[in-house]
Amino acid sequence: MITQQTVEIIHNEAISDGYHRIRLNCGAHYASATPGQFVTIRLPDQAEPLLRRPFSIHRLPSGGAGTLYMEILYRVVGGFTRQLARQVPGSELDMLGPIGHGFSVRCHEHPVAIAAGGIGVAPLVFLAERLKQAGMGMNRVMVFLGGRTGTDILCEGIFYELGMQVSVATEDGTAGEKNLVTDPLQEWLEKNNPGMIYACGPHPMLKAVGEIAQNQGIACEVSIETLMACGLGVCMGCAVSTNEAGEGYRHVCKDGPVFDARVLL
Ligand SMILES: Cc1cc2nc3c(=O)[nH]c(=O)nc-3n(C[C@H](O)[C@H](O)[C@H](O)COP(=O)(O)OP(=O)(O)OC[C@H]3O[C@@H](n4cnc5c(N)ncnc54)[C@H](O)[C@@H]3O)c2cc1C
Ligand code: FES
Repeated sequence: MITQQTVEIIHNEAISDGYHRIRLNCGAHYASATPGQFVTIRLPDQAEPLLRRPFSIHRLPSGGAGTLYMEILYRVVGGFTRQLARQVPGSELDMLGPIGHGFSVRCHEHPVAIAAGGIGVAPLVFLAERLKQAGMGMNRVMVFLGGRTGTDILCEGIFYELGMQVSVATEDGTAGEKNLVTDPLQEWLEKNNPGMIYACGPHPMLKAVGEIAQNQGIACEVSIETLMACGLGVCMGCAVSTNEAGEGYRHVCKDGPVFDARVLL
């Protein structure tokens, strides 16, 4: 059930140039949230921006003694995220969630690939944790992190701690190999007979990943971002066109943000 609540900020720190991680005391309501679902946030005492802003659930760490925290990984891009970066521990946010349909989490028979472009890694950390809990242990998940430059490569250490293999590619070569993330991904797919590709990142990257998956006959789920207004399925602000017969458009906030990649190609 989607619930609106006031949540306390536990900490809020820069983790890379322009990227922050915030920890919130979200309460047990989020215990059943799934990777790929998101929340919408506003600052309680601010009139601007008018619209709540959507952010993926990045992690749900336990605080012990029945306490549940939520972490959000965010990139500072505009007015709201600039204000968010200035919030200090002890202050509060107005949060609505969990919203949307997430990734399908199960123990796959074959290895799986996770492909992240920049801040697209945010929901994929939560996904990787849940895949591990589902039995996708050591060396059965291959993670591909891509970005324009080295400071866009986030969370590499978390995936290593989960026992997963990581491949890094940047467009300028300042971290990992100088390449698009889809190149090492494609090379790995050809050799590994995977059961699924999970991806989140910019639209051109998701389109390329979806096409690769389709050409190789591999199941693929992508989490897409659009501008959102209501975040609740009532305004059409997040509509995307699909190739489904009779459907035409789907709401990213209500039907997604995770879709079977074939629907969007
Ligand atoms: C389902 C979903 C999950 C998201 N999860 C995360 C997350 O985990 N971490 C994170 O950092 N961001 C995430 N976003 C994007 C985030 O909502 C925006 O970055 C944020 O709303 C920007 O607010 P702002 O006021 O700072 O910037 P604004 O002033 O509103 O925008 C600044 C610039 O960013 C562009 N922009 C804003 N929102 C989007 C968007 N959704 N897609 C593409 N361009 C956009 C604007 O067009 C503008 O150019 C998510 C978006 C969606 C829809
Ligand atoms: S944002 Fe209003 S319908 Fe999705």
